[in-house]
Amino acid sequence: MTDRPIAYGLDFGTSNSLVSVAWPDRVEVVDVGARRVPENLPSVIYLNADGNRAAGDPAIEQFLVSAGVQSRLLVGIKSDLSDLRFQATSSWGLTWTPVDLVAIVLRTLKRAADEYTNTNVNRVVLGHPVAFEGSEGPEFEQRQALAVERLIAAARQVGFQAIETLEEPSAAAENEDIPSGLVVSLDFGGGTFDVAVIEYHPDGAEVIGLAGASVGGERYDQLLFNAKVAPDLGLIDEYISPDGQRHRLPAHVLNRTRSMLDLRSLLFDPILPSTLDRYRTYEGGDRLERLQRLLYGGFAYHFYEAIEEAKIRLSIEEETAIEFHRPGFDIRTSISRGEFEALIADDVDLLETTIRTALSDSGVDAGDVVQVVRTGGSSAIPLFVDMVTSVFSHAEMAQRPPYTTVVQGLGHYAQGVWG
Ligand SMILES: Nc1ncnc2c1ncn2[C@@H]1O[C@H](COP(=O)(O)OP(=O)(O)OP(=O)(O)O)[C@@H](O)[C@H]1O
Ligand SMILES: [Mg+2]
Repeated sequence: MTDRPIAYGLDFGTSNSLVSVAWPDRVEVVDVGARRVPENLPSVIYLNADGNRAAGDPAIEQFLVSAGVQSRLLVGIKSDLSDLRFQATSSWGLTWTPVDLVAIVLRTLKRAADEYTNTNVNRVVLGHPVAFEGSEGPEFEQRQALAVERLIAAARQVGFQAIETLEEPSAAAENEDIPSGLVVSLDFGGGTFDVAVIEYHPDGAEVIGLAGASVGGERYDQLLFNAKVAPDLGLIDEYISPDGQRHRLPAHVLNRTRSMLDLRSLLFDPILPSTLDRYRTYEGGDRLERLQRLLYGGFAYHFYEAIEEAKIRLSIEEETAIEFHRPGFDIRTSISRGEFEALIADDVDLLETTIRTALSDSGVDAGDVVQVVRTGGSSAIPLFVDMVTSVFSHAEMAQRPPYTTVVQGLGHYAQGVWG
């Protein structure tokens, strides 16, 4: 390799994080050796009482090996960034701030890229959503600013010195080569939906409108869990104690089994094991055995992955099943695309409203948009594609690679800044 990298692009995502290298003449997305998609580092971290930590697939593996003893698996760290009250998390006398947690992921990406380029790069462009998950409401500006600030601090902690930031949908459009006209860029990921309205003219491009919503694919996994899995696990049922009284599981138990993100608090609930043991003695209580195995059997992560994979299949198949088998734990429930679409219909309305907000804020009529660029894992959902196509019936539709488009664009932007 004779040329030297200019900078990196870092896309710290709710579900997946990626790094790109901006070379003088090209941008490359780094293969970080991840299990499902080689470039996609799962945004998951592992913390251990001995101070050990990891990000990505090794985090999941180490957590499974440790069986949760003296260790924690954290998911959804991106959604914590805008939390004004979240100052730190402590375990075993050790403390991590949100910046420390994000830095674990960023360090893993930087190391992979430094190893690949055989250099130590200290310039980076960080992508971020228009509105971080959880930032909405009266304190929006403060929360959004805090989240961006924390992301920058994490980049500094891992050794970057020159740091630029760019909204994710603007980054997605950086790869486009459009002489002139109005373009709408949509990034629909695991945690947020982001819209940019961009005006291209012969001497450059200008972002004239931005909007975002806390809607993403991880929420759809939760909706699927509630509708299709919770009843099978006995979470909704009534149980009758020997004195004839009817009982339901405490509401927080149902609420926190919906996703891997919430489950972590149940795993550390000291009273829950005895509560479940008591319910097991009630009439119908044997149905709770699978819930106990899910909570304490060490395969919860892969179980949630099975739900997510069923959702992903529904983007190409009309009918599929959520299926998962482990000793003493068998689940199989069919689900049709129609059922899934009924679950997400309200959300898709909110996505349309977000697009219309971006258009009206920038004074642009949908009919004047020449091209729509879509990216992000969730952008493959047919109901979403249908909605976008009907809003922009005159525009050309472009589906870009779902995972690498934003990080590629961050690299292109870096070329413009430092190249
Ligand atoms: N073909 C598909 N159909 C539906 N959903 C999909 C498909 N492929 C991936 N997904 C979903 O896309 C999400 C991940 O997308 P992506 O990697 O773009 O998000 P992210 O960048 O981590 O999140 P964000 O940008 O919101 O912070 C997951 O919820 C995943 O289940
Ligand atoms: Mg993303």
